[in-house]
Amino acid sequence: MHSVKLESILLTVAILAPVEIFAQSLETVPPGFIISGNQIIDPAKGSKVRFWWGYNETDPSELFFVVSARAKGYVGIGFNNRGGMKGADMVLGWITSNGTVIFEDRFGNTDFSAPVVDKEQNVKLEMAKENATHTMFAWTRPAKTSDTSGQDLQINNEMIEVLWAYTDEDPVGAPVMHTERGHMQLNLVEKHPTLGKP
Ligand code: HEM
Repeated sequence: MHSVKLESILLTVAILAPVEIFAQSLETVPPGFIISGNQIIDPAKGSKVRFWWGYNETDPSELFFVVSARAKGYVGIGFNNRGGMKGADMVLGWITSNGTVIFEDRFGNTDFSAPVVDKEQNVKLEMAKENATHTMFAWTRPAKTSDTSGQDLQINNEMIEVLWAYTDEDPVGAPVMHTERGHMQLNLVEKHPTLGKP
């Protein structure tokens, strides 16, 4: 009787482990990046979205970000000072069923419509991954981008709003309304070697 219980516990662990590892570990992150913080950014929604931030070790002016969402559609991350979509500097990405990766620098023109693709793309995709349950992206961008059009937030040593959103299914055509969304305040360069200093 005892051994039957043990077997069923082991089976449960074996089934759950890959999901948790995918959601929380960073084993596929390219070398040369320092992670300075990470946070579950949907605390009220069942811990489906985890976000990591950091910088390039040799050129810290380049910031590094990773998001992992328990979702198979698009995943978006945005930065601004107010929480709503209007004025948010966003990235939006998804991986199609045939493995095509879409990942774009976008901007929130309004609080209620799809963010538009930035005229100037200032993000570089470093990694994209999807398994049976999760979608994960890693990207870099300069802390201070060259985009002077107002579509990028320059990252300083202060609390900003980090917006997140995802859909359960890939967009068919243009991306539409999220399944879940939210925002929380974070300082993304508090532990940065130069930007973090007062
Ligand atoms: C792709 C097409 C998108 C459409 C059509 C859309 C549409 C909307 C609409 C209609 C609302 C208001 C209703 C509500 O609160 O749910 C909203 C809110 C919100 N959206 Fe989007 N959205 C899109 C993408 C995104 C993306 C990519 C993000 C994050 C990066 C995002 C973050 C948010 C947040 C945080 C709120 C709530 C803001 C608040 O608390 O007031 N949205 N969106």
